[in-house]
Amino acid sequence: ASQAEEKDLVIIGGGVAGYVAAIKAGQEGLKVACIEKRGALGGTCLNVGCIPSKSLLNNSHMYHSILHDTKNRGIDVGDVKLNLDAMMKAKDTSVSGLTKGIEFLFKKNGVEYIKGTGTFASENEIKVALNDGGETSVVGKNILIATGSESTPFPGLEFDEERVITSTGALALKKVPESMIVIGGGIIGLEMGSVWSRLGAKVTVVEFLNQIGGPGMDNEVAKSIQKLLKKQGMEFKLGTKVVSGDKTGEKIKLEVDSAKGGKPETLDAEVVLVAIGRRPYTAGLGLENIGLELDDRGRVVIDSEYRTKHSHIRCIGDCTFGPMLAHKAEEEAVAAVEYIKKGYGHVNYGVIPSVMYTHPEVAWVGQNEQELKAANIPYKVGNFPFSANSRAKTNLDTDGMVKMLADPETDRLLGCHIVGPNAGEMIAEATLALEYGASTEDIARTCHAHPTLAEAFKEAAMATYSKAIHY
Ligand code: FAD
Ligand code: NAI
Repeated sequence: ASQAEEKDLVIIGGGVAGYVAAIKAGQEGLKVACIEKRGALGGTCLNVGCIPSKSLLNNSHMYHSILHDTKNRGIDVGDVKLNLDAMMKAKDTSVSGLTKGIEFLFKKNGVEYIKGTGTFASENEIKVALNDGGETSVVGKNILIATGSESTPFPGLEFDEERVITSTGALALKKVPESMIVIGGGIIGLEMGSVWSRLGAKVTVVEFLNQIGGPGMDNEVAKSIQKLLKKQGMEFKLGTKVVSGDKTGEKIKLEVDSAKGGKPETLDAEVVLVAIGRRPYTAGLGLENIGLELDDRGRVVIDSEYRTKHSHIRCIGDCTFGPMLAHKAEEEAVAAVEYIKKGYGHVNYGVIPSVMYTHPEVAWVGQNEQELKAANIPYKVGNFPFSANSRAKTNLDTDGMVKMLADPETDRLLGCHIVGPNAGEMIAEATLALEYGASTEDIARTCHAHPTLAEAFKEAAMATYSKAIHY
């Protein structure tokens, strides 16, 4: 950027929130600059999150299936070996292809990409310490904070990304550890735990609550996926709190307590993955220079139009309220630019799907059963197991079910919870149904191709408003 050149919009952070806003702003004809310090666009999601984790999940699943799930399919395989280096390279290729793709989209949409760290010098001016050395500054009529999040540390167990690791270390281990303890049985713990368990590590998940899956997962679904992951070899210690850790010995030692105050115990492992949540990242932004406050969880405080108390400075994505999900950040990015350009925008926070990419996958949207109970909202339930679905049977992949929750009076869909093959794709249909205010009868009367896994979705809807045919 030329010295103090004025833009219509300056975005700090080139993650999903920031890069999508930049492209949208370019499309809307705004003069826009996006500042990113990582050296690559795409943020956590593309570089060390969604994309590399899904590459490892997909390929470790193939490896595990070839080892354990071929004979009954009539496939005899010879000597199966893991080439971890090559698996990591495949992951890196997916990541770099996608991050470079965003650079191309920036050029195509006239977005200026500034490689460096942005700090508020004043309410309209951002100083940038350039990655290549030197400094520049940009002035924005509007500014968008999209600086994302980072792993929450565990006190006393410093990350070295080799023995005590965050998800970033878990995406880049150089060898398969003999044993791994995962602190936190949320989505990161279960996805990355699955990867290393499939590749041969003995994985133990220690979770404070009495249920795995993290916030939002339906209780019944959480129990079901726990059983399935246990069958695959993962161990679980629920209702157990890690009190302290010691990494001075050859193995890492953890002192754990029953969450209810039972007998303390010592666990040890070669590698410990800390996956106890993520926290907003705003370090070095200089929010104090412009008097912007954070709430008690470190989130930038905004109103319903993403405005901070300085109304031309907005904030979206992981560093503010709401679920820390890439597609949530993406929706907000489009809406924030629409507010700037047109004065109105919209995100339906009641209809944001969640997917856990284990095998089988877990996916949900809308309210779960425990939330409906707690809010005293009446509901009816319809279930359909994949063991009664013809496509799942032909695929020899029948674990799991579709569960629907609907209003008993109006039959309107309230929530859908799936554990099963391809749940992450199937949830799109439930999301659309919920967004359109469909009843389960609307879904059930919609023709679904045969034989598909999606028929399980239709039959769960039939079971909710009437009766399923095949179960
Ligand atoms: P980020 O992606 O964190 O981007 C913020 C960017 O801002 C970063 O690149 C950072 O370098 C930059 N930045 C920060 N401060 C400055 C500054 N001062 N100057 C310049 N640049 C700065 N979500 C899903 O929906 N699906 C998934 O499958 C999924 N998998 C995940 C797997 C893992 C292992 C992890 C850790 C997360 C996963 N997530 C997933 C969550 C997802 O990655 C985040 O919700 C998403 O990246 C949030 O986007 P963001 O743009 O708000 O923040
Ligand atoms: P999380 O909030 O999903 O789960 C953290 C778990 O750790 C909770 O179940 C909590 O009870 C437990 N915990 C906290 N302190 C503990 C302690 N001392 N001992 C034992 N257990 C403890 O957080 P996670 O898994 O770190 O993921 C962070 C976020 O990243 C997710 O909330 C999600 O938004 C995003 N993400 C999304 C993915 C997806 O969409 N597929 C994949 C990976 C991450």
